[in-house]
Amino acid sequence: MNAIETVEVALDTPPENRSYAIHIGQEMISRMDLLLPHLPGKKAAIITNTTVAPLYLEKLRNALANHQVNTFSIILPDGEQYKNWETLNLIFDALLEHRCERKTPLIALGGGVIGDLTGFAAASYLRGVPFIQIPTTLLAQVDSSVGGKTGINHPLGKNMIGAFYQPRLVLTDTATLATLPDRELRAGIAEIIKYGLIHDADFMDWLERHMHQLLARDPAAMNYAIRRSCEIKAEIVSLDERESGLRALLNLGHTFGHAIENAMGYGEWLHGEAVAAGTIMAAELSRRLQRITSVEVDRIRHLFEVVGLPVTGPRLTPERYLESMQLDKKVESGAIRFILLDRIGKASAGITVPTPLLIETLSACVADA
Ligand code: NAD
Ligand code: GLY
Repeated sequence: MNAIETVEVALDTPPENRSYAIHIGQEMISRMDLLLPHLPGKKAAIITNTTVAPLYLEKLRNALANHQVNTFSIILPDGEQYKNWETLNLIFDALLEHRCERKTPLIALGGGVIGDLTGFAAASYLRGVPFIQIPTTLLAQVDSSVGGKTGINHPLGKNMIGAFYQPRLVLTDTATLATLPDRELRAGIAEIIKYGLIHDADFMDWLERHMHQLLARDPAAMNYAIRRSCEIKAEIVSLDERESGLRALLNLGHTFGHAIENAMGYGEWLHGEAVAAGTIMAAELSRRLQRITSVEVDRIRHLFEVVGLPVTGPRLTPERYLESMQLDKKVESGAIRFILLDRIGKASAGITVPTPLLIETLSACVADA
């Protein structure tokens, strides 16, 4: 049997223990010993998309069928542009048609789009049914499958409709990364770098030394990066599940990034690409406020460049950025709250910034014409 590593997300405060395990390893899709305890009714709905289904759905369904678990599949269109109400309704239609009950778990098999949609469906169908994540992109394995943020986009704002709803289990099958396109792999690495920047300077050093191994999908390097990312996210989520403070740090670069995704049209920029350009904007803003040095900004920029991620935003006017950023979830009393760096390995949240400085930063961080 392949070796697995387990990270616990501790959410054990009364009245309900909602702690769960993230199991990381090769061929986890076939590990029915880990999955079956969460399927007591021997029935489950698998939610996936048209790209992932031909790759991994049959394997999962067969493994479950061998243990007499009755499944049906909901195969959604693929793309960020489908993370919306219409697609959510397709899930509800299928759950009702198949007469799914309160104890029927939903299994998300796919990337962050499938995970976010499935989690939100699970939070609201019959006011809550069990939910299991089987993430198949690097981004989903290090970030979106962990921590219980679920939801959909609105034409006016990214991830603006949703719920906090934790999975019962995360099964991270690193073998699925073999089929992931390079561009998607790089987008996932953007979120891994985020953990080093906000929380762990040693991890940032490690990433700089091992980036070429990660890009070459070296299994040992990949396993370490996934595990360390999950450990950091689990620690932060355990301390601040509903983002009353600390958890906001996980959104470094996301206020800018979400604005890029929204303004360009969902799916045009990958989420991780928008986060990369957004992180450079946040670093440049931090430097302008004398929180970090230009040497630190250069170091961050260089790492994103090595990965092949964008380090400038699309050429939109600062006003267009500001308009999209006003619909960020961290806006309070109309003021945008930023996550800024204090140094590499430490960040602070909830910071307001003078608009002229913001405009100056945005103007300096967009691509040349
Ligand atoms: P995605 O779900 O669109 O997946 C990227 C692409 O890879 C898709 O085309 C998908 O079909 C394909 N794919 C998935 N697994 C594959 C595999 N193993 N082999 C080949 N192709 C595969 O995008 P993503 O980057 O996984 O997730 C981005 C989404 O996650 C965004 O909507 C973002 O807002 C969300 N997100 C959520 C959280 C959270 O905490 N809930 C955190 C970060 C990001
Ligand atoms: N990806 C940000 C969070 O989970 O809080």
